[in-house]
Amino acid sequence: MARVVVTRRPPGSALEAIERVADVWLWGEDRPIPAETLHEAVAGAAGLYCMLTDTVDDGLLDAAPELRVVSTMAVGVDNIDVATCTARGIPVGHTPDVLTETTADTAFALLLTAARRLGEGRDYVRDGHWRRWEPDLLLGTDVHSSTLGIIGLGRVGRAVAGRAAGFGMRVVYNSRTRDEAAEAELGATYRELPDLLAESDHVVVATPLTAETARLIDAEALDRMKATATLVNISRGGTVDTDALVAALRSGTIAAAGLDVTDPEPIGADHPLVGLDNCFIIPHLGSSSERTRAAMADLAADNLVAGLLGRPLPACANPSVYG
Ligand code: DGY
Repeated sequence: MARVVVTRRPPGSALEAIERVADVWLWGEDRPIPAETLHEAVAGAAGLYCMLTDTVDDGLLDAAPELRVVSTMAVGVDNIDVATCTARGIPVGHTPDVLTETTADTAFALLLTAARRLGEGRDYVRDGHWRRWEPDLLLGTDVHSSTLGIIGLGRVGRAVAGRAAGFGMRVVYNSRTRDEAAEAELGATYRELPDLLAESDHVVVATPLTAETARLIDAEALDRMKATATLVNISRGGTVDTDALVAALRSGTIAAAGLDVTDPEPIGADHPLVGLDNCFIIPHLGSSSERTRAAMADLAADNLVAGLLGRPLPACANPSVYG
């Protein structure tokens, strides 16, 4: 049987599905596998089932000359050098679609929590400050009937736009390419990025992390936003310049942020961003419902097994590998 490296125990029954067709080497610890250990483990492996915390680059691929498939239990592939995999003829599996709605739920939860200051409200109660009703206690910014700017109108961005309709929001978006079909379907209007930032009451970043989107939200971008605006990041921490965000939240350049992802990630409890009352951070939980994580694990297993058997992957991040 082919040898496969699995870098964390996946939820649900994905591991059993892989074990039916391969000899599994599993990193069984409750923390990401150290790069050095992974490099040793992949020697002679035909398949790699990895997590978004693992780096798959030239060095790793050199250590795995027999690798026929890489399958990540995530939709984002910024941890994988996809171009190099393609050049080496290795298909890369990922997990689009199955996490879209759950991730859009998280984006909206972050938007509501940050804009309406719910985290501060929870702390207020927990810290024993709640003595009476106050007419001006923790006043936030309305989400309903506001203008939502979505950066990246991919699957998750579109699902966020769909939810915005239920809140009576006007949606503007910016994307690498204009999507007129999505505009018609969602009633979203295309804007150049500077215009989107200036016009939006709230901004959701839902674009993949690439060389073009790295630190897209920098000091200049934050300066363009409204002082009452909320920034939500549901993509990757690297799309936002963390130091610039700390400065903007401190100075009141923007009102609040809700972050599923950070740079660095994980972010230490002593990081200045974490100490800010107007920043609500969760530990990369975008897709973290029981059902969705199991579906991601299953799809990643299906991708891996297909690659081992020489079949097209059900969800391939580099379809050009098939020529
Ligand atoms: C992904 O799949 O890329 C998500 O970030 C996981 O929550």
